[in-house]
Amino acid sequence: MNLTLRVWRQKNSSTGGQFVTYKAKDVSPDMSFLEMLDVINEELIGRGEEQIAFDHDCREGICGMCSLVINGIPHGPHKATTTCQLHMRSFKDGDTITIEPWRASAFPVIKDLVVDRTAFDRIIQSGGYVSVSTGGAPDGNAIPIPKDDADKAFDAAACIGCGACVAACKNGSAMLFVSAKISHLSLLPQGKVEDARRVLNMVDQMDAEGFGNCTNIGSCEAACPKEITLDNIARMNRLYLKAVLQSKLS
Ligand code: SF4
Ligand code: FES
Repeated sequence: MNLTLRVWRQKNSSTGGQFVTYKAKDVSPDMSFLEMLDVINEELIGRGEEQIAFDHDCREGICGMCSLVINGIPHGPHKATTTCQLHMRSFKDGDTITIEPWRASAFPVIKDLVVDRTAFDRIIQSGGYVSVSTGGAPDGNAIPIPKDDADKAFDAAACIGCGACVAACKNGSAMLFVSAKISHLSLLPQGKVEDARRVLNMVDQMDAEGFGNCTNIGSCEAACPKEITLDNIARMNRLYLKAVLQSKLS
């Protein structure tokens, strides 16, 4: 199929950017979205032009690196699908596709479609370590954990840190990401020891990085390729309130 691509090109974070139109010819419906961009880049290299910069690593939906807003939707039109797992059969011959980077002030554009997501790394670092020694796998498995808690912790741990939740949010809020990271530790006994310190530090760091607040629109949940739910934000808010009250009473 033949497509028209409108791609955001931006030299670096201190210059402005603009959409540039490219024709993608003979695109196989079996190509992934990133493979289609690879082909465009091969053509650009062949013409002596600068290739389009975009982020990727695993191309298996597990690393969280791929980050494109496709026709206004982070990760494109399919629910629970990362950009690298999106295939060209999702589009029709003759379509025009608009491709942009994540847009949030806490994620400045580095070049073209690549943004700086190190704010997420600093939030994770601020959470610190779990001090309880869990021993080897048999010891960890010997600790009884209610099935419901284990399932919820596992679901929260599925967050790949891609940042689509921020890109989808009109407030540029990172609360779905932060609450997933807080939840997956807090739901397990080994992670409860540092609950208060972790939630206070991570929320402080999230605010310091310039992310906005949650106003319960739910666009983060809708855009999340790992189907992280808003329940995690409610859990984080409860943990935060408890930690603030505890610190005032002690
Ligand atoms: S919560 Fe979902 S959208 Fe946000 S970083 Fe994690 S996986 Fe990506
Ligand atoms: S490239 Fe790793 S999740 Fe898409």
